[in-house]
Amino acid sequence: MVKILEREFIMVKPDGVQRGLIGEVIKRIEKVGLKIIAMKMFKVSMVQAEKHYEIHKDKPFYNGLVEYITCDPVVAMVVEGKNVVKITRKLVGSTNPLEAEPGSIRGDYALEIGRNIIHAGDSPENAKTEYSIYFTEDEMSSYKKIDADWLYE
Ligand code: RTP
Ligand code: MG
Repeated sequence: MVKILEREFIMVKPDGVQRGLIGEVIKRIEKVGLKIIAMKMFKVSMVQAEKHYEIHKDKPFYNGLVEYITCDPVVAMVVEGKNVVKITRKLVGSTNPLEAEPGSIRGDYALEIGRNIIHAGDSPENAKTEYSIYFTEDEMSSYKKIDADWLYE
């Protein structure tokens, strides 16, 4: 059996929480077979938001983005699996819901880029930088899921 080490950082943004989509997001992650190893609800602080979106700090949408992500609680999680970043980004869909395929989370539940329900890291390296803003290593659960032998060759 393969040892699976890749991790992804996922966040249900305040609009996803307010619209009652936490369960829908978790359901899709679980049903595809990925393993959730950490999860919590909290309000993102200004300091955390500035770190998270540092790469966008010169973009015209930056202030609105920080205001949006800090306005109400989010649900953040760390998910583990083989190729988890690629698989999660497909589940999430394109950044702009206008381009997101039906069947993806943004394609099914969002209308505008500035209210696109969910965040997911775009590479294993960026995912690590991001989950380290919100989680300590102690908060990650290490366990074997009973279906692991049926999900991976
Ligand atoms: P995310 O980081 O949230 O998973 O989304 P992403 O990789 O698909 O998109 P990214 O380019 O990293 O942008 C981060 C978030 O900024 C907001 N955004 N607004 N108004 C705009 O033109 C614009 N562009 C980006 C979106 O909320 C996007 O998810
Ligand atoms: Mg991004």
